[in-house]
Amino acid sequence: MLDPFSGHARHITVLCREALEFLSVRPEGRYVDCTTGGGGHSEAIAERLTTGRLLALDRDPSAVALASERLARFGEKVWVRQAAFKGLAAAVEEFGGKVDGILADIGLSQMQLDDSARGFSFAAEGSLDMRMDPAQELTAAEVVNRTDERELARVIYEYAEERRSRRIANAIVRNRPFHTAKQLAGVIERAVPGSRTHHHRLHPATLTFQALRIFVNDELGQLESLLEQAPDVTRPGARIVVIAFHSGEDRVVKNVFRRWHTEGTCRTLTKHVVWPSEEETAANPRARSARLRCAERI
Ligand SMILES: C[S@@+](CC[C@H](N)C(=O)[O-])C[C@H]1O[C@@H](n2cnc3c(N)ncnc32)[C@H](O)[C@@H]1O
Repeated sequence: MLDPFSGHARHITVLCREALEFLSVRPEGRYVDCTTGGGGHSEAIAERLTTGRLLALDRDPSAVALASERLARFGEKVWVRQAAFKGLAAAVEEFGGKVDGILADIGLSQMQLDDSARGFSFAAEGSLDMRMDPAQELTAAEVVNRTDERELARVIYEYAEERRSRRIANAIVRNRPFHTAKQLAGVIERAVPGSRTHHHRLHPATLTFQALRIFVNDELGQLESLLEQAPDVTRPGARIVVIAFHSGEDRVVKNVFRRWHTEGTCRTLTKHVVWPSEEETAANPRARSARLRCAERI
């Protein structure tokens, strides 16, 4: 389905029913969607509010522009602002103080992936950029063209559990400089031939691209910061719902929830992760790796 505002394929919101159930939205409550993206979850939350309000955040200014248009019909009930997770507490303060629930659906949106100029997808001729916030200095091109081989191998292994990280890092160093995402994807494909069959549907560059994106955007540091601030910006009874897309992110969430339990800050409401239903993954294969956890502020 095309987005009426951007003309690009619209991001299909994942685990929407489950996220709304766990958030347990009250019509008069105040909520934060930390990753408004295409505005899908935000719209579903806003539709349940009467006197309540929603703060919709994203670090990507194009997502903020898109969500602002989609959510404009809610008027003052919904505020859309640009902020990264690290700016959560400041944004909530400006919104009027503690809230009744937080949602974070982390990772990339379909719009970001499809915009070839941003270099998130190896299929496109886009520049090797990968910044979610274009005001940030560090780009993926900087990382692949300047990082030493050992460190590159570490990044590729640590952020994506790519077992062939050393071979890939060596090929990168031998073939740089890189200017486009496609050029990098081609070198990786030649460095680790035959891996398509090994990893089934995955292109051989998939894990390397994931690792670079996570590193460039400091995604795990951002997530830790979000979870660090969450108890301080929520009222007792508030729900904190996180949707992760790979095991590295989910591990961070699981460990912080465990710590909250020990400290007595929050209790975990999801004993195990919640996966999308078969119907959802059949309709939207991208939802396959999504997993949700929820904690409740005590
Ligand atoms: C999967 S999309 C969200 C889609 C949205 N829930 C929807 O239904 O349309 C993830 C969004 O989170 C944003 N994002 C990722 N990391 C972020 C961070 N550290 N701070 C703020 N936004 C972030 C991305 O820019 C992207 O727009």
